[in-house]
Amino acid sequence: MRKLAEIDWETFHSLPVHEKASYFGNDQREQHVILAQQFRRARLDALGALATRIRRIAKTHAGNDFLQGTLSHKRAMLFFSQPSTRTFLSFCAACEILGLKMGEVRNPSTSSEFKGESRDDSVRTFSSYFDLIIMRSEIGGLAERVAWLLSNSERPVPVINAGSGKDQHPTQALLDIYTLQRSFESCGGIDGKRIVFAGDLKRGRTVRSLAVLLTQYEGVEQCFVAPDDLQIGEDILKLLRERGITYSLRDDLRPELASADAVYMTRVQDEWDVADGATHAFDAARYRIGADEVLLMKPDAAILHPLPRRDEISPAVDHDTRAVYWRQMRNGMWIRAALIASLFGVEDEILGYAGD
Ligand code: NCD
Repeated sequence: MRKLAEIDWETFHSLPVHEKASYFGNDQREQHVILAQQFRRARLDALGALATRIRRIAKTHAGNDFLQGTLSHKRAMLFFSQPSTRTFLSFCAACEILGLKMGEVRNPSTSSEFKGESRDDSVRTFSSYFDLIIMRSEIGGLAERVAWLLSNSERPVPVINAGSGKDQHPTQALLDIYTLQRSFESCGGIDGKRIVFAGDLKRGRTVRSLAVLLTQYEGVEQCFVAPDDLQIGEDILKLLRERGITYSLRDDLRPELASADAVYMTRVQDEWDVADGATHAFDAARYRIGADEVLLMKPDAAILHPLPRRDEISPAVDHDTRAVYWRQMRNGMWIRAALIASLFGVEDEILGYAGD
């Protein structure tokens, strides 16, 4: 792994994304978790296997006691300056599973940032008291700045990006991959599947990160269904072309449903409208799954959603066997526990647990 302490910020900041990724981790482990581009297939398989192991061990009281002992000497700081329910709570639950103690700042107006302290100084302060920083920010690229900053400080603690701007949400993509691994366990895995994304793909960071991770699988076809002005970014399409991935761009979900192995739904990210200086009016009926649409899908297809949803998936779909979004949410807790365990190097201890 290249060392962030050996490169100055300007040089690092101007690197292409795949080169930046090589500073955050390698094929065995992560130093920081910042970009989807830093994960290769072998790591996705290993993290999925570790998550499943943790899930099984946690079924018993003795197993829980064992897991809680693995990182009871560590403390995590959750620094979330954007709204969050699932990501925040699943990280809390993941920390609790492994015994980490937690601190949190969810509203920078309650911290010294309100007194004019810079974000750089704030996170250096957090790193004085904690061993891991988990952060969500509306500022794209802030997590990589913090990772670089801390790697160049006297307390180089790991940073996990829990969502940055409109750009990246790597741990959501990991839980989405874990959900797809489990959904396709008995039908050949993720390789060769057709994955359809629908909704606001321009500003939906979960889709952007998942599209990157899916390039690690053989023969996966990606189909992006969105109105023209909310279509997936050219930077992602360029990456798909470079990696020889088959993809298509569409503006109506219905015709894509019959051939989809998984459909990944998203909500309109209209909190960005003001900053973007534009509102996006479109025909929502073209990007929606209701009781009628689900009937068009294959019997073993999977419907995913990072949540929160608005009305792009009708609650009438919730009890269909294809709806996996509630399981997907719980998978987030297991994969985040696996990621944290691996960041602190206790995965062998967990994999070797013989109490069950
Ligand atoms: C997503 C996010 O924050 O990007 N939520 C999440 O983490 N599960 C998706 C969204 O807000 O629409």
